Amino acid sequence: MQENIKPLIRTAFEDEVLKGLTDYPKHLSSKYFYDEKGDQLFQDIMSMPEYYLTDAEYDIFANHSEKIAALFTADSTQFNLIELGAGDGKKTKIILQKLLDKKAKFTYLPIDISQNVLNQLSNSLHSEMPEVVVKPQQGTYFEALEAIVSQHNQSKNVILFLGSNIGNLLHPQAVIFLKQVQELMSKDDLFFVGFDQKKNPQTILDAYNDQTGITAAFNKNILVRINSELGGNFNIDKFLHWEVYDPETGTAKSYLVAKEKQQVYIQKLDLNITFEAWETIHTEISQKYDDKTINWLADKSGLIVQEQFSDSKNQYKNYVFKKA
Ligand code: AVJ
Repeated sequence: MQENIKPLIRTAFEDEVLKGLTDYPKHLSSKYFYDEKGDQLFQDIMSMPEYYLTDAEYDIFANHSEKIAALFTADSTQFNLIELGAGDGKKTKIILQKLLDKKAKFTYLPIDISQNVLNQLSNSLHSEMPEVVVKPQQGTYFEALEAIVSQHNQSKNVILFLGSNIGNLLHPQAVIFLKQVQELMSKDDLFFVGFDQKKNPQTILDAYNDQTGITAAFNKNILVRINSELGGNFNIDKFLHWEVYDPETGTAKSYLVAKEKQQVYIQKLDLNITFEAWETIHTEISQKYDDKTINWLADKSGLIVQEQFSDSKNQYKNYVFKKA
């Protein structure tokens, strides 16, 4: 047997790293931030005072839970509550409790790419709200959504997409995604989406560039993963976390910036990469929205706005869409 034959089929992560680091300018996808360490770092981000998004959405759920629960339970005796990218379910638990109080009949179907996150969520629900019927689904949003919708096409589906996760997509991709969901929806189904709003640019920069360095560690976790999973030799200290925000487009972008000229070798890909001093790797988009843009996105995706909720500081909004 020859040992130097490389497997022809690469994992999605290997593929992404090969493409992204040989491209110019270099880029990597933020979806690879989230291994066990990355999940923990994101939890830490959500509890930082600078990261206002989580508190703002929590505020909406806490203040409008009655109205939200009424929307979810309208027009049907039994429904499915499907959550794309469920995370720790902290906000969703407020609604779950409200639904239990109302004696609503529903099944909760959290979908997440991370099995680790799903296990933690199922365990906590089992002890805190044992009455809730939970059916966790591991997978990408769309795979899992399609499977669920085909299984439950007779009852109403309420689809949650919280935390401004949609912000990882630039508008053209967001339209593709929203349209895909819209095509799986029926007449009474609801699509409940969280959108972080445009605001003082400094507030946004602070949220993505905390002084304690948690966000920097989160961003750099993608390099840590390349080292541990693909046999890379990145020196993490030779990269800088850098955040920019364009108040006109509402796009926040994260970068890793090489502090000096350097070579990196990735064994699994047998790949040598050169970084010039101050060369960048673009890693994440965190899009911010206004009403005009959200209405335009909905229109392009075949959705209509049923309702919208804002937090008390007007930093964040949840929109409820129906199929047009
Ligand atoms: C989970 C994609 C909504 O963009 O605000 C937090 C991820 N990145 N801090 C966001 C993130 C840096 C977060 N989302």
